[in-house]
Amino acid sequence: PKRLAVLTSGGDCSGMNAAVRAVVKMGIARGCEVYVVREGWEGLVRGNGPEHDVKETQVHSGTPSTADPIPNRRRGNFVATYGEGELLKEGEGEQTLKDRYIIRVGWDDVRGFASLGGTLIGTARCAAFREVEGRRTAALNLVKHGIDALVVCGGDGSLTGADRLRDEWPEHLAALKERGDISAEQFETHSHLNIVGLVGSIDNDMAGTDMTIGATTALHRICEAIDSISSTASSHSRAFIVEVMGRNCGWLALMAAIATGADYMFIPERPPTSEDWQSSMCSVLDRHRKEGKRKTIVIIAEGAHDCNLKPISPDEVKDVLTERLGLDTRVTTLGHTQRGGAPAAYDRILATLQGAEAVEAVLEATPDKPSPVIGIQENKIMRQPLMEAVKKTQDVAKAIAEKDFNRALSLRDPEFED
Ligand code: F6P
Repeated sequence: PKRLAVLTSGGDCSGMNAAVRAVVKMGIARGCEVYVVREGWEGLVRGNGPEHDVKETQVHSGTPSTADPIPNRRRGNFVATYGEGELLKEGEGEQTLKDRYIIRVGWDDVRGFASLGGTLIGTARCAAFREVEGRRTAALNLVKHGIDALVVCGGDGSLTGADRLRDEWPEHLAALKERGDISAEQFETHSHLNIVGLVGSIDNDMAGTDMTIGATTALHRICEAIDSISSTASSHSRAFIVEVMGRNCGWLALMAAIATGADYMFIPERPPTSEDWQSSMCSVLDRHRKEGKRKTIVIIAEGAHDCNLKPISPDEVKDVLTERLGLDTRVTTLGHTQRGGAPAAYDRILATLQGAEAVEAVLEATPDKPSPVIGIQENKIMRQPLMEAVKKTQDVAKAIAEKDFNRALSLRDPEFED
């Protein structure tokens, strides 16, 4: 059977667990042996250590280590059921997951994953994987486990790393054979690495897909927070400046502004047209107050800037509201509350459908075709060339830096019209 691995990489988001669950279950349903790689690329570089490679089938016990990625309430179940894979059944052996990063999993290992936030198999930002030698070690660990199909769930940076590993694969294999790290047979049987990307990011910033895994949940979290802020703002007749995440993408800020009926917002793709954005903002906010509103909510995307690309900070906006409008103003930075918590139903469904499609795609992949990334367009799960999508996403940032805002938006969505 084909050996397939799944990993999550970069910043976490709600829905990653549902994606892992779908890949594991669909992989097994399609007759594959499925592995999870803990801690993203970092885990692939670390591998399982020589002692585990030798005793591949003799690992694990029912004694969970504190390094296990599984929260207490799930740990027992997770450890006990690992026995379906290469790991031993509960009580056998002395090892824990502590030094093992590439782990064979069974159907039950991912039970209950769909409703849990974050990523239970862990993620990391891996410096070693940015170096050729790190990627070579990752390649060696894949070959050692006989894995030649990889599904990666992460943002554009993580997916670029995936594509680079695939591109360099022949070089890595030749070097590993030359060094005697792999046998001639391994060199022959692992001549190609199939990679498929799933976009996990709260930012919803990937070009060519309508929605990334995690974005809906983060938006929901922001709306809940702003609803809470709104009631206290009303009580005190105050103004609040709420900063939301998104890097250089304003999707979260824009959608939150619509969903909560905010008074004003700043996003990177549509900066204020005039240098004197303070006056334009104040006239809108002042009108709202005169119309009888007791509260003022201004949402700022973390990447917001003025028409000269000078960042607009929440404190700067606060000072304007205080000084020009005499409003009692507070700043709230929502921070990582936006990234955590149970996934919304939509993210569970999106991740499940896309995870299943990723398995089909990885099984159909051939060396002559570019690696695909799974997306959704007009409510249909689709595939597109991974590097095309990543390049367009990176070009958005460049277009914004060149103040070509319409180009930025049409790179994300080809049907965009001003
Ligand atoms: O890309 C997701 C994201 O949450 C961005 O919105 C934010 O700018 C960044 O990651 C925060 O990264 P970190 O968790 O490393 O602080």
